[in-house]
Amino acid sequence: MSFPDVRMRRLRRNESLRALVRETALEPGDLIYPLFICPGEGVRNPVSSMPGVFNLSIDEAVREAEEAASLGIGGLLLFGLPESKDEEATGAWSDDGIVQQALQALKQSSASKKLVLMADACLCEYTSHGHCGVIKQTGEEWDVENDPSLALLAKTAVSQARAGADVVAPSDMMDGRVAAIRKGLDGAGFSNTPILSYASKFASAFYGPFREAADSAPQFGDRRSYQMDGANAREAMREIELDLAEGADMILMKPAMPYLDIVRAARDRFDVPMGAYQVSGEYSMLHAAFQRGWLDQNRTMLESLLGIRRAGADFIVTYFAKDAAKLL
Ligand code: PBG
Repeated sequence: MSFPDVRMRRLRRNESLRALVRETALEPGDLIYPLFICPGEGVRNPVSSMPGVFNLSIDEAVREAEEAASLGIGGLLLFGLPESKDEEATGAWSDDGIVQQALQALKQSSASKKLVLMADACLCEYTSHGHCGVIKQTGEEWDVENDPSLALLAKTAVSQARAGADVVAPSDMMDGRVAAIRKGLDGAGFSNTPILSYASKFASAFYGPFREAADSAPQFGDRRSYQMDGANAREAMREIELDLAEGADMILMKPAMPYLDIVRAARDRFDVPMGAYQVSGEYSMLHAAFQRGWLDQNRTMLESLLGIRRAGADFIVTYFAKDAAKLL
């Protein structure tokens, strides 16, 4: 036999062969599109650090949802920019909060028949201090108080479910919040509402542009006392185990590209539906390179998403959802 006896290139010779042996598929239905909802009407405010991403008033969000549905996108993840903020994050859990109003409007639209409506359950967009829980201040010292925050998170999730959320997605990283939210939902008659927990969420610099988009930067300190240290993979597995034991139906890993090892480890270990969040900074850095012509936009975007799927994510939360779905 002639050397080399194995010729891997035989199956790469044309697109139909390549398609036949392709191991990982990327489909519009695997993509979840985040939306930032703001007050007003006819508002489409561009987020300067995220080309193509906007703060949308509810009417505009409904239009966006209809487009997403027609592209076959799997679902939406809603974030809110409230009219005003306070210490108790009232805007997060009041029944006429911005996300609650958006959910009600989306439920009326035909898009909701095709899209899974997910609501991010967190307090940081709604607190005056920008932290994800309640703050206790003693002199110069401050702390994000775990247990008092749980009640507010549960209230938030319940009001989101009441407004029409198909899935609630806690992203705060307080201990015990999945159990608190499950109990709250069950007690309010929403035992069929699933919880997608951001089970392993790292304290990441890649959230930078989001904090402009959602106006949620902490006014002092940072989130390292509740989000995870980027060095810790074993701890991520414990976080997931705990959230599942508390009743999480699905888990979300975040960020995605710099943490693909975590996505793979979680996939190998837990037989539950799992997503990964390609966060704002991942989107912005790719766009910065697209704008300079340093990277090819379409090919790089799809390759980045495929990598996340290949690492084991069943679905991907991504600001590229519409752009990618148009190509798929
Ligand atoms: C809320 C939340 C954040 C993101 C999702 N939910 C911000 C943060 O934790 O600071 C980040 C998403 C992104 O960067 O795209 N806690």
